[in-house]
Amino acid sequence: MKAQTQPKVWTTRTFDVLAKYYDFFMRTFYPVGEKGRERIVERLRGGSVLDIACGTGTLLAMAHEKGLECYGIDLSQGMLDQARTKVPGAELKQANYYEIPYPDGRFNYVVATNAISGTYIDARRVLVEMIRVCKSGGEIYIAEWPKAERETLGERLIVWIASLNDDAPKDYQAIFGELGYKPEVEVVEKRHCIFGIKKP
Ligand SMILES: C[S@@+](CC[C@H](N)C(=O)[O-])C[C@H]1O[C@@H](n2cnc3c(N)ncnc32)[C@H](O)[C@@H]1O
Repeated sequence: MKAQTQPKVWTTRTFDVLAKYYDFFMRTFYPVGEKGRERIVERLRGGSVLDIACGTGTLLAMAHEKGLECYGIDLSQGMLDQARTKVPGAELKQANYYEIPYPDGRFNYVVATNAISGTYIDARRVLVEMIRVCKSGGEIYIAEWPKAERETLGERLIVWIASLNDDAPKDYQAIFGELGYKPEVEVVEKRHCIFGIKKP
């Protein structure tokens, strides 16, 4: 499946419709996604953080509690409306993560959680943008589910089921590698991992 950089219209509409129920669905059906966000926030020590698909703003709300200056972008206005109520102190913009509307080297931390595993998403290009807006010495974190090391029959089944939801594991180590980085990897639980790099 070829990755693309133009967001699908239905992606935005789906999240607009789901926005009010999104946190409930996450807590109920994907609690590991919540843990991933918490682990990333534990690593933020101060300064500014940009969440490039901030959704309902859960990660930013935690970062705000820790005293960070918070920024978020997301394509879905519905998700951003939820985020605004949760973290009124954040600067939130409706924008595409392939073209982040901030200058080079702007943030201490740039993060993405549960955001770039879509079948059609060009994760490499998103990472290039994340690295661009990160300060030198800053850190970039993503929380996603990576490709399995072995492609067993069970694995193929999982990947097929995920593809029905337009979701796909990716080889994030390799993608970071192509960009000249060797990420630190923390396994949050089973397949859910945090990949982190420091921008030189
Ligand atoms: C599964 S939600 C994850 C939200 C949040 N990061 C979390 O951990 O719960 C994916 C989010 O990505 C946003 N999104 C999808 N494509 C995008 C794009 N091209 N640019 C910015 N946001 C996008 C959606 O609107 C949605 O809010």
